[in-house]
Amino acid sequence: EEEKTLAMIKPDGVLGNYTERIKMVIVESGFSIIRETITQLDEHRASNFYVEHSSKSFFSGLIKYMTSGPVLVMILKKENAVADWRTLIGPTDAQKAKITHPHSIRAMCGLDSEKNCVHGSDSLESAQREISFFFGEISSGDAVGEH
Ligand code: CMP
Repeated sequence: EEEKTLAMIKPDGVLGNYTERIKMVIVESGFSIIRETITQLDEHRASNFYVEHSSKSFFSGLIKYMTSGPVLVMILKKENAVADWRTLIGPTDAQKAKITHPHSIRAMCGLDSEKNCVHGSDSLESAQREISFFFGEISSGDAVGEH
């Protein structure tokens, strides 16, 4: 079944000029990029996006990181998109990814467990919430191949 997921290139990825390389991997892996937007998160929006982590010790560092520059947000579509995008980005800790998942996107451009270059929704429910967060409600029939 076709699914949509939210992919984000974080500030280190955008500022490090990884955008085109990452989009190449996305398309070569069979995803369609159906929407994309570049935006700068402020503290309020970043905290809201990551509200489930608000009690974690790394939260304030995470918000500082996520507001340090622009992010590129995309809706990816494909069969099994949620799980497949998570597999493609690799484990949260980019340092570990370089060892255990050397072909993953985080191994390519991430730095550590915080500055890990990309984000992916962790479930279908998160994907729906995160897509609405950035793009508003998207109808299920939204055009394939639309940019
Ligand atoms: P992401 O997959 O976007 O979801 C939550 C983010 O919090 C994660 O990527 C990292 O950027 C950050 N994060 C998760 N775990 C840690 C950690 N142990 N230390 C610092 N940052 C973390």
